[in-house]
Amino acid sequence: MEAASDPFAIRVRDLVVGFREQIVIDHLALDVRRGEIIGLVGASGGGKSVLMRTIIGLIPKRSGTIEVLGQTIGSQQPHDPRSATLWGILFQQGALFSSLTALQNVEFPLRENLSLSDGLITEVAMAKLEMVGLTLKDAGKFPSELSGGMTKRVALARALALDPAIVFLDEPTSGLDPIAAGDFDELIKTLQATLGLTVFMVTHDLASLKSVCNRVAALADGKIVAIGSMPELLRSDHPWVKAYFHGKRSLMLQPEPS
Ligand SMILES: Nc1ncnc2c1ncn2[C@@H]1O[C@H](COP(=O)(O)OP(=O)(O)OP(=O)(O)O)[C@@H](O)[C@H]1O
Ligand SMILES: [Mg+2]
Repeated sequence: MEAASDPFAIRVRDLVVGFREQIVIDHLALDVRRGEIIGLVGASGGGKSVLMRTIIGLIPKRSGTIEVLGQTIGSQQPHDPRSATLWGILFQQGALFSSLTALQNVEFPLRENLSLSDGLITEVAMAKLEMVGLTLKDAGKFPSELSGGMTKRVALARALALDPAIVFLDEPTSGLDPIAAGDFDELIKTLQATLGLTVFMVTHDLASLKSVCNRVAALADGKIVAIGSMPELLRSDHPWVKAYFHGKRSLMLQPEPS
């Protein structure tokens, strides 16, 4: 099948990932559709970040296959230069360069990957910052001078710098107040709609799952144990999924009484 007509952006089959004697991902299968926002939930320490990092080739797999936009991941060549334009990443720890301003952080991947004039690079980077709702004034600030929400936006702008087809977001709204988190959710939705992005989002934020994600995948015991729309996940019989969505802290997700 031609890559462009492939309905899936990511295909993972029979994936096993571990560290020494610990198996973290255990024969996992997952398909991510092109253009969808998929949310990944799972227990803390359950392997969400490891799965994400393995999909983008940062952690070696023990066995199984991973295909991202038709490209096979994790064989011999650890760094395919094309990958920079296939996906962008917002890491769980933000990971902006502390000695660079917001603007310089967004310029960084552009300088690394494109041969454009300085003026053009700055223009493109500034456009990305504006796209995520930051101003010229914010652009000159260093990471230590940014709020948590602004930091996430800069990291998102950097992830989008090279116009990737997929963005990986590892807990993009953690640490934000509910209003800022809601704004960030709206931003992701808008960007997805306008840029046609595929979004792979790890999150514990039940509101994000409900309002942003087209589908939600639940990771437990190293496998995807449930996947589907939020209403479908709420009906899942899997014990961990039930505990996660029907526990005391998720009452807001219960269907409203009619
Ligand atoms: N580089 C590494 N070397 C050894 N063990 C690791 C490494 N990275 C992760 N692990 C282990 O893999 C397991 C899964 O970690 P991971 O970071 O994927 O959890 P998570 O689901 O993202 O959790 P959280 O929700 O807290 O972010 C943990 O037991 C962790 O200690
Ligand atoms: Mg994590």
